[in-house]
Amino acid sequence: MSKTGIFYASKGGVTEAFAKQIAEQLGADLHNMKDTGVEAIAPYDNVILMASSYFFGALQEDWGAKVKLLHTVDFAGKKVAIVGVGSQERHPDSFCSGSADFFDKLRFSGAQFVGDVCVCGYNFTFSRMQQGQRLLGLCLDKGDAKVQEKIEEWLKVVKPLFA
Ligand SMILES: Cc1cc2nc3c(=O)[nH]c(=O)nc-3n(C[C@H](O)[C@H](O)[C@H](O)COP(=O)(O)O)c2cc1C
Repeated sequence: MSKTGIFYASKGGVTEAFAKQIAEQLGADLHNMKDTGVEAIAPYDNVILMASSYFFGALQEDWGAKVKLLHTVDFAGKKVAIVGVGSQERHPDSFCSGSADFFDKLRFSGAQFVGDVCVCGYNFTFSRMQQGQRLLGLCLDKGDAKVQEKIEEWLKVVKPLFA
């Protein structure tokens, strides 16, 4: 069976709670980047990179300090899903933008990105996660009344791909 690892960064615990929920559904291992290095990604076939955004769309600092090291990991053949966490109401002009750093860093790495979602059902003005009518990964906002539905829909797509 292929192994799934979630590598998350969270300041106030919101991302951590979503990460735990997703890990339970996927039977994935959880790694907090506060006390994990990027080398821990190596043994996983499926990788979820997950973080909240701060300060006009920067990755939460536990990932922010380490994202630059992602090139030291061989991503060829790995499936990678991005999950961003942010606030549409308070930061509509940079919603979940920090998580686009994962994509920027890995776009030529040989990783196969999975789990992009439709921009429909969101309410923001700008995000670096947006490409046309798609978001590069799942974007979560704890103030979104439909956040649980979004997680469920996303898991339906990602679960079989991670099997
Ligand atoms: C100072 C500050 C800056 C923020 N900047 C952004 C931002 O640029 N984009 C965004 O989507 N959310 C932003 N947020 C909202 C957080 O990402 C959101 O509250 C998230 O749920 C925090 O998750 P965490 O507890 O896992 O860190 C910001 C929050 C604070 C307090």
